[in-house]
Parts: sequence; C-alpha cells; structure tokens
Amino acid sequence: MDLGLRDKIVFITGASSGIGAAAAELFSVEGADVVVSFGKNMKGAEDTAKKVRTNGRRAWLCPLDVSDPESIAAAVRRLPPEIQGLDALVLCAGLSLHTEFTDVTPQEWEHVMAVNLNGPFYVLQALTPLLREGASVVMVSSVSAQTGVSHQAHYAAAKAGLVNLTKSAARALAPRVRVNCVTPGITMTPMGQDTIDALDSDYAKNKMLLQRYASPEEIARCIVFVASPANSFMTGATVDVNGGRELR
Ligand SMILES: NC(=O)c1ccc[n+]([C@@H]2O[C@H](COP(=O)([O-])OP(=O)(O)OC[C@H]3O[C@@H](n4cnc5c(N)ncnc54)[C@H](OP(=O)(O)O)[C@@H]3O)[C@@H](O)[C@H]2O)c1
Repeated sequence: MDLGLRDKIVFITGASSGIGAAAAELFSVEGADVVVSFGKNMKGAEDTAKKVRTNGRRAWLCPLDVSDPESIAAAVRRLPPEIQGLDALVLCAGLSLHTEFTDVTPQEWEHVMAVNLNGPFYVLQALTPLLREGASVVMVSSVSAQTGVSHQAHYAAAKAGLVNLTKSAARALAPRVRVNCVTPGITMTPMGQDTIDALDSDYAKNKMLLQRYASPEEIARCIVFVASPANSFMTGATVDVNGGRELR
C-alpha cells in the first residue's frame, strides 16, 4: 500500500531518541522529509538526521523546549525558508518520572504536566498556521492514560489529557487537518527501560497478551500509518498499540 508520504514534510518532536527517532527514519523510508525536533540531545538528533539523509530525504534539526512557548516561537522563526508548510506533525516528546503518589511535589507535578500535556498543545498551536490542507497530527499518549499508574500519577494524568486534547484539536482543525492519538504500551527505549527495570521480570508474560514489550519501530509503524494520507478518514481517534496490556 502506498501511504502517500512521498515528498511530504513531517515535523516530529522528541526525534532525538526512541519512538520519535524510529518514526523519523520510517517516514524517510516512505519518502518524506523530516524536521528533527529535540530538546537537549543534539547527538541523538544528528544521528536521526543522518539516517533520514541516508534514505535520500532532507532533514533539518530543530531544538526547542516543548514546555516553553517562547522557545517554540523562536524555533518556528528559525525554520528554514524551504519549509513553507507541513504535511504531518508528530507530537512525541515526553518525560516520565517514577514517584510514589504521596511523594510527588508540586514542582514535579507541574514539570511533568508542562512537558507531557502543555507541550503538545503549545507546539500544535504554534505550528497550526504551517499545517497544509490535508495535513495530519498525531499525539503520542500512553496506555497509562487508560490504566492510571500509582507511581506515575502526573504522567498518566497528562497522557489522559492528550486523549481529550486530540478530540478538541480534531474539532478545531476540521475539515482541513486530521488529529489523532496513539497510546503505546511499554516500549524498549531509554524511557521504557526505566519502566521495565522497575517491574517484575515476568510482568510482560503475565500482563500482556503478546507477552513482550514493543520495539520502537513497532510503535513508529503505527504512528506513520495514522499520520499518513492513506489514513484519510480517521480524525479525533485514539489507537491503542499496547500488545494487549489493556483492552477497551
Ligand atoms: N517507551 C515507552 O514505554 C512509552 C510508552 C508509552 C508512551 N510513550 C511515549 O512515547 C513518547 C516517546 O517516548 P520514548 O520512549 O521514545 O522516550 P525517549 O527515548 O526518552 O525520548 C523522549 C524524547 O522526548 C524529548 N523531550 C523530553 N523533554 C523534552 C522537552 N522539554 N522539550 C523537547 N523535547 C523533549 C527528548 O529530547 P532530548 O533527549 O533531546 O532532550 C527525546 O527526544 C513519549 O511521549 C512517551 O511518553 C513511551
């Protein structure tokens, strides 16, 4: 199936690592150019850009702090002139902290919310004028939005907020732009490894129908399809890609 991504331009936050980096590479395999947005990990972003260019596509680095509207505005102003519009936006940047419910401080709560919930809203709002007719947005939430997590209450609440933000944004941007959400289960990335390390060794076998964790590429394939023009009749939806951890 042709996903319709040839010569499209995709902006990905969190593209210096894990799922975002895997998505950037896959988009380029499908013929898209990629704005590799990242926070602090310049080396990771450069590695991602190199993979995109190896696939014969253009890549631009775009550092920004998703929790800071000023930083986002400055990054948008710095975008190179050849980026006249965007065909897809993947909001993948995220931060996960493990703290027992009773120990979360107001500062930690606000920081996790700022990156995981405020961030996607600020970036989407800033980039909306650049989204072309027919463009598509994908929010990257988490299975924790559905399950709740006692030692990640802030993270799970922020990710649940993204599911609802997806619906508001889909309504606001229709019919020009589709907005959807994916909810990955535990995935073997630097963030996911922290989670895996904190779980019993037989967690996947006991709790997940597929009895294993995801690779970043498995989540990225879902993101790329959801974002693509081939997925032309879906908007406001949340797609679970959690290996059977939670069934709705
Ligand atoms: N891995 C899992 O098990 C899992 C499960 C469900 C959902 N998710 C979600 O999937 C997304 C990707 O996670 P991952 O596992 O690929 O994590 P990861 O490998 O740790 O990557 C996180 C990315 O987010 C970026 N980021 C963090 N804070 C930022 C900020 N303030 N401004 C800009 N960028 C920022 C990081 O950029 P720098 O490193 O450059 O700062 C990095 O590129 C996240 O939204 C996460 O919540 C992951």
